[in-house]
This record gives sequence, structure tokens and C-alpha cells, in this order.
Amino acid sequence: MGERGPVVGIVGGSRSDFPILEKAMALLEMLEVPSELRVISAHRSPDLALRYAETAAGRGIRVVIAGAGGAAHLAGVIAAKTTLPVIGVPIPTPHLGGLDSLLSIVQMPRGIPVATVAIGNAENAAILAIEILALSDPALATRLVRYREEQTRMIVEDPSNEAPLD
Ligand code: RP5
Repeated sequence: MGERGPVVGIVGGSRSDFPILEKAMALLEMLEVPSELRVISAHRSPDLALRYAETAAGRGIRVVIAGAGGAAHLAGVIAAKTTLPVIGVPIPTPHLGGLDSLLSIVQMPRGIPVATVAIGNAENAAILAIEILALSDPALATRLVRYREEQTRMIVEDPSNEAPLD
């Protein structure tokens, strides 16, 4: 992590969420954004969840990514106790495929928003966090543009695209 402390806080309701949330961490690392990954449950460790939210900004965290599955209230609980932007990642679930997680996270009542990405799409949560941070970090903005260009290059230079379109 070098000398800089984490600026993105990634929290998951259970260690079982980590395989998905680690994808966000990897993408952040690729674009040189320091992050941390912790288990914090809104129902199993509610005091810890509130303490995390209350102290995050003071520790240098600028954006929180919160992943949870089922009746997934973690992102909303974190958002209730901080004015940092909170991005929710609905974790896929065995019985309802993550639709339960999605609706629990995206349907925040008025006044306390949680930016919600697609089910299981922790990478997009990382990119959204990077876009927020890049507003005040020109070097990061440049890395983000390069990342986007690389996505484009991988498609247009794919050998299957060499056949003429007309
Ligand atoms: C939620 O319950 C977690 O976010 C996880 O997605 C789900 C299942 O947790 P475990 O039973 O695997 O610990 O709180």
C-alpha cells in the first residue's frame, strides 16, 4: 500500500462475500488506489458497522463500497452514519439469485442514497469510486482514461473484428 493509507473502504457483510469484493480491490490496486477490505455486518456486528461509518472519513476514506447479500442492509446502515459516498454491491444469493440483495440495496428511501451497481458487479463499484476520486486527482483521471481506452482497444483489435462490416 506504500505510504498512503486506504482511500476506499470496502466492507462485506460476511467473509463469504470476499471472492466478489476482492475483484473491486484488485481493480483499485491496478489503478493505484489504496483500499482496505473488512468484514462488517449490519446485523451480526451493528455497533462495529456504525463505528466504521462514523470514523471512516476521519481515517482518510473518501468512498465506501459495501457488499452484502439477502436482506442486505449494510450499505444503507453505513450511508446513514456518514456523508461519504456509499456504493452498494448486491451479492448473489442461493435462493433468489441476488434479486433480494439488489432490491434491499437499491431501494433506499429518500434522503440517504446508496449508489447501487449490478448484482455481483464489484468491478463497477471500483470504477465508480475511481470516477469520484478522479474528480480531484488529475493523475488518477489519466489512469482512468487509459483503462477505458484499453477496454476499447481489446474490442476493436480483437481478431474476430477484422472481417469488414460492409
Ligand atoms: C449477509 O449474509 C452477507 O453479506 C452474506 O452475503 C450473506 C450470507 O452470509 P454467510 O452466512 O455466508 O456468513 O449478511
